[in-house]
Amino acid sequence: MKEEKLILTGKRQLTPRVTEMTLEGVTEKMRPGQFVNLAVPGFALRRPISVCDLEAGRLRLVVRSGGRGTETLTALPAGQELSVLTGLGNGYDLSRAGTCPVLAGGGVGVPPLYYLARALRQAGLPVTVCLGFNTESELFYEEEFRALGCDVRVATVDGSRGTKGFVTALIPEGSYFYACGPVPMLRSLSRLEMPGEMSLEARMGCGFGACMGCSQRMTGGMRRICREGPVFRKEEILWDD
Ligand SMILES: Cc1cc2nc3c(=O)[nH]c(=O)nc-3n(C[C@H](O)[C@H](O)[C@H](O)COP(=O)(O)OP(=O)(O)OC[C@H]3O[C@@H](n4cnc5c(N)ncnc54)[C@H](O)[C@@H]3O)c2cc1C
Ligand code: FES
Repeated sequence: MKEEKLILTGKRQLTPRVTEMTLEGVTEKMRPGQFVNLAVPGFALRRPISVCDLEAGRLRLVVRSGGRGTETLTALPAGQELSVLTGLGNGYDLSRAGTCPVLAGGGVGVPPLYYLARALRQAGLPVTVCLGFNTESELFYEEEFRALGCDVRVATVDGSRGTKGFVTALIPEGSYFYACGPVPMLRSLSRLEMPGEMSLEARMGCGFGACMGCSQRMTGGMRRICREGPVFRKEEILWDD
């Protein structure tokens, strides 16, 4: 982990509530599935956000403005300097991908899968990406995944785009799955016969393992989502907690 001073150099509105942000000046190497913790001016607690992409010191994040912190963050002007803790958590384990990995993302669970898909495509693997949203106006990154050469499938709950229903209905047979999204989606994916792993969310204090605030009971005992996670293999997760 490092504290880095990054400059916000670009913003792109993906949907009315979702903003892609580009920050420059990263020196830390980060793996798909890791996250950063951003200090938002005026707020005591940092906000954890997944690495959506990282190349040549340029970090891409995709942020949904839900509460006051993320609203302030996404409204910051280009040129703003931000204190960012980089290289947090354990990422996805690419060595388990097998021959035909499947990526499943729901809503703002989609961003970390982009960096993962890029790494798996660079490794020469065929990648199927299943994206789930409530409705067409919330959809983002379909074309970005296609541009990586992924087989992209889309589901919307109201049927306004792609298959009507949940992303879980799109999952093909594969060698291994990687997921990020809402808990009901992850729980449902954990019942697949296919082995896999998923990124969990928790309210975080420090974000680097010191406060125990994000601890959750897993099959092997208490685990900190920020430190041992946020990615866990499906058999490690206790869903009733
Ligand atoms: C590892 C990880 C990766 C994440 N990646 C992304 C991402 O790529 N894009 C994205 O839009 N969101 C992501 N989130 C969720 C994001 O951190 C929360 O939406 C955000 O912190 C909410 O802050 P707020 O000020 O909008 O909400 P408020 O409700 O005002 O926040 C109050 C407090 O609760 C915490 N909090 C509220 N909701 C969440 C939540 N769902 N998860 C964690 N803490 C929360 C905030 O950090 C803050 O400390 C991620 C969360 C985690 C844990
Ligand atoms: S947020 Fe402090 S230990 Fe995880």
